[in-house]
Amino acid sequence: MENGAPTAKPVVVAIDGPSGTGKSSTSRAVAAHLGLSYLDTGAQYRAITWWMVANGIDLTDPTAIAAVAGKPEIVSGTDPSAPAISVDGVDVAAPIRTQEVTSKVSAVSAVPEVRTRITELQRTIAAGAGGIVVEGRDIGTTVLPDADLKIFLTASPEARAARRSGELKGADVNATREALIRRDAADSSRKTSPLAKAGDAVEVDTTELTLAQVIECVVTLVEEKRAGK
Ligand code: DC
Repeated sequence: MENGAPTAKPVVVAIDGPSGTGKSSTSRAVAAHLGLSYLDTGAQYRAITWWMVANGIDLTDPTAIAAVAGKPEIVSGTDPSAPAISVDGVDVAAPIRTQEVTSKVSAVSAVPEVRTRITELQRTIAAGAGGIVVEGRDIGTTVLPDADLKIFLTASPEARAARRSGELKGADVNATREALIRRDAADSSRKTSPLAKAGDAVEVDTTELTLAQVIECVVTLVEEKRAGK
């Protein structure tokens, strides 16, 4: 393990939900607090999308995307204090956050060959971590159905848009809200492992909660799970 308490009991925590629910900040903080590894699976889908854009792949053509899905080598760091991601040795932590990648990632991540590839990567990382928090859209349902604890974060569209436009340094809230709703609709309606709450996930509505409260809530749930409650 790259970080934290060496005595921590290995535990696998799946945190799913739409964007703007505080998923990344919560997952990182919970992992750091509990001495667990951390995996941002959205960053992996963004990384493969970045590679497709950089290589001029026609993203309106699922067959073209599928044909090259196995090509880029994606390496994810799992230290919650320094999340890192590279593609073919290039650090892409910054370019995967551009509007261009954000607007194209749903089309790429809907392609089954892409999901199979990235899911395999995620399972390998989780199996080797010795305790990890994995955040995404389909972790509890598809990637790690045997996770020790599954959390599904939600929040109202208004709260999610306000948080995202804050992150995007003052972007228009209404435009952000529309873009979020479009991306969630695409992610929830795709055929292969859509954004969904697992039947055995604990749902946490973060609309009225501060980030610190959400972190505290999830840390408590993990500690209760570890204590066998
Ligand atoms: O969490 P994020 O906004 O960085 O995720 C980017 C996109 O990746 C999101 O729109 C859907 C996709 N994604 C996915 O399909 N499955 C996951 N487990 C994580 C993200």
